[in-house]
Amino acid sequence: MGSRTGIRAADRPCTLVVCRGCCCGNPGKYPQADHAWQLDRLRAEAAGSGGRFTVRTTDCLGPCGQANVVVVQPSTAGRLAGGRATWIGFAMGDDCTDDLVRWATEGGPGVAQPPVTLELQFIPPPREARARARR
Ligand code: FES
Repeated sequence: MGSRTGIRAADRPCTLVVCRGCCCGNPGKYPQADHAWQLDRLRAEAAGSGGRFTVRTTDCLGPCGQANVVVVQPSTAGRLAGGRATWIGFAMGDDCTDDLVRWATEGGPGVAQPPVTLELQFIPPPREARARARR
């Protein structure tokens, strides 16, 4: 059965959820980064990926102190293989953008190993961070 987007849940690709809230992508807060270029590049790479991954933006995800935040959501196959949404902090610049594109193109969580340099930027999801702070 099809969804409203026409993509069956069984076929959902890896998705880069790019935060563009109050802090992420804000040139007033992070003038050293070209945020528009980053989003344009991610969208262009997704469009040329043959459906391997998609990109969407979202309002503030919570951990503004670690902006720019990107969440790499697994594809349906990745989720079935144990992949979970992976939060990336300080996701700015050429190298990080290259890593995001590489991982998403290769299949993302549950399908492909992330680049080691990207792993260094993994951050806990906000709920997990709050639980850790209570311990
Ligand atoms: S604006 Fe991105 S986490 Fe708040």
